[in-house]
Amino acid sequence: MHAPMHDLFDAAEAEAGGAAQFAEDAWLLRGFALDRAAALLEAIDAITAQAPFRHMETRRGLRMSVAMSNCGALGWVSDRRGYRYAARDPLDGQPWPPMPAVFARLAAQAARAAGFDGFKPDACLVNRYEPGTRLSLHQDRDERDFAAPIVSVSLGLPATFVFGGAARGDRVQRLSLRHGDVVAWGGASRLFHHGVLPLAEGSHPLLGARRINLTFRRAG
Ligand code: SIN
Ligand code: FE2
Repeated sequence: MHAPMHDLFDAAEAEAGGAAQFAEDAWLLRGFALDRAAALLEAIDAITAQAPFRHMETRRGLRMSVAMSNCGALGWVSDRRGYRYAARDPLDGQPWPPMPAVFARLAAQAARAAGFDGFKPDACLVNRYEPGTRLSLHQDRDERDFAAPIVSVSLGLPATFVFGGAARGDRVQRLSLRHGDVVAWGGASRLFHHGVLPLAEGSHPLLGARRINLTFRRAG
């Protein structure tokens, strides 16, 4: 939280279509999902019609400011019992909506572009941010093994992504993530801390005052 921050990582080499490495085994793929954004948004609408966005509770009973849904065989859930993956939506006891082919293909292609072949995600967390929404620094470590990377797709309003190290107090760098950008990390940085600063006000032509993030993982 109070670690010194690097300058915003906004490398000229990471222009649309470009890939820029920002840590070991960690890549920013600028605009990688742009050509599929409309199909992704359509699929997100279908997913959240079945499994609506909701604000989950932390173990301590705090309401998360990010609204979440899931698709795929496993969904990430949080409640008073803690964090875990579950095959069913706790709201209605039904399986999560299946992962659309356009999601799985994008995740595998982005992983490959970042050096991770054969990525087959079984979980996609759908995160919705509104101005003021933030995600505090955390590790993704509820998955069964850490061999697979994490692929994170940004849609809608821009956000500042913070990426630190193995220890919570490690220096963090900041990446500006825009509509269509993809971040993929794994290997040496698989368990590195990361988070999202409070979303700034704004209006995106496709999503209005919202940002949606898709996080793909191999959980089970
Ligand atoms: C996450 O860490 O689960 C989401 C990151 C993001 O919204 O970019
Ligand atoms: Fe995360």
